[in-house]
Formats: sequence, structure tokens, C-alpha cells
Amino acid sequence: MRIYSISDIHIDFTENAQWIKQISEKKFKQDTLIFAGDAAHDLQMLQNGLLQLRSKFQNIFFVPGNHDLWIHNSDWNDSLEKFEALITWCYEQGIYTIPKKVGLNDPYPLRIVPLFSWYSGPENGADSLYLKKPGEDPQNRMWSDNYYIRWPQNDTDFHAPSYFAALNENALMEQSELPVLSFSHFLPRQEMMFGESLKPDPEKIRKFDRNPQFNFSRVAGSNYIEKQIRQLNSVVHLYGHQHINRDRVLDGVRYVAHCLGYPKERSWGMVKGIERGLKRIWDTEKGMC
Ligand SMILES: [Fe+2]
Repeated sequence: MRIYSISDIHIDFTENAQWIKQISEKKFKQDTLIFAGDAAHDLQMLQNGLLQLRSKFQNIFFVPGNHDLWIHNSDWNDSLEKFEALITWCYEQGIYTIPKKVGLNDPYPLRIVPLFSWYSGPENGADSLYLKKPGEDPQNRMWSDNYYIRWPQNDTDFHAPSYFAALNENALMEQSELPVLSFSHFLPRQEMMFGESLKPDPEKIRKFDRNPQFNFSRVAGSNYIEKQIRQLNSVVHLYGHQHINRDRVLDGVRYVAHCLGYPKERSWGMVKGIERGLKRIWDTEKGMC
């Protein structure tokens, strides 16, 4: 069994829906796909996309991204209600949102652990990936989640990053000798946001930053995810959300982002490597790929 990775398929773009449709119906029947979230805000479209992927693979693993929890033009009271309905539906359809061991009869079996998550803003202190950016808009007004995501209004203590992190507690408690592959939609650590230098490059920001007032680090991810990766002792962690594909080892863990992204991001050359298709991460006959 081969384990493949993809994130941010955004199938509300026709080109992206087509890309997903063209994945072979036969080639991956014995394989597993890990989809790290962001398919569509329209629930019907999201479910159709997941079912399409499920029909092509033996196993599909999924965690929702922020776009999957947008509730504009719908009857949901809040995004948590939509999240719960989606997870129940995944369970009914045999789409895994809980840990599972794969390849148990093969030389290199693996435990796959989905991690639910949300981003921590600067107001969340140490759990945030926030980094100051000169000239930023402190309200991040161009960030659509501000308008399309709503958390329970009657619970003033509701704190999305810790809420979602707590949902992973059972997965963290289970003891297993198998290597762990974990995945989340959001970024687990600050360095993930940057290139090889692992820190902001003022020259690159000056040249390529299309939205100087927007500070991605406010909405990128959370240290909760990194803590859970270390607790699990993951050998590899897959993530999405940023729409920049990377593959590197930090403090002994391999972190991989492999997204489809928006059509315009591919044409700009911002999303690289996707022309080679899904990324193979593991083979239960051979180990890490
Ligand atoms: Fe996202």
C-alpha cells in the first residue's frame, strides 16, 4: 500500500474539480490518500469531492480546513455545528477522521493520525505562530474567515484552537509501536511559513508580497499542533493551508505540504510540484518515500 498526500483542492474552481476528476480510477485502488482539508464551502460540493476521492482509493483520511467550515449562504447556526455534521457524515461514509493502522501485514506498517486544529491569533500568546509585520492591518480585514466563520455565540469562552486540540486527546493517549504519520490542515510551527532560511526574508517580502497589510502569521496555525506531533512522536507530518509546497526535516520530523492551490497560484509558479500529481509519502513494502 502506498500513502499519498494532497491538500487545498478547492474544487469550487472548475480547473481544480477537473484535476480531481482526472485522478485514475484504477491505479490507486490498493492505496491510501490523506487529504489535509479545504475542498469547498458548499457542503454538497465538499461531500461530492470526498466521495469522488473515496471511490478511487482504498482508504481516505480527512480533516476539515477553514474553507470547509464557512457558513455563509447556509442555514448552519455556527461553524462548529457544520464541523460536527461533517465528521458524522464522514464516519457514515467510511472516510477516516480518526487514527487507523495500515499495512499491518507488510514490512513497514504505519499509524495514520488525523489532528483537528485551528489557528491561534496573537491574542492567544504562546500558542500563536504570530510574528509582527510592519504596516499590517491588526484586524486582518481581507481575511474571509472573519466574515464566513462563526463560533458558538452562547459560549463566550469558546476558543477554537484549544477546542480542536482537545478533540485529539484520545488519539494521543493510544500507545503504539508503529511509526506515526500525522496530519493537520493548519501549520504546526512558525518556520513552516518561510523558505529555507526558516525566517522572514525582507527582500522577498518587498518583491513578492501582494497584500502588504495582510499578516498570514495571525491565521497560519498553532503551537498546539506541534506539541501533539511531538507527543505522538510522528516521523512525518503533513499540513496544508499556506498554498506553498515544502518538504523538509526539522528537529527529526519530516514536514510536508503538498497542495493543489488556486489555478492562479499555479500559473504564478507559487504552487510547485503539483504537476507531478499526488505526492507519495510512504510505501508499506519499502517505508518512507
Ligand atoms: Fe486553509
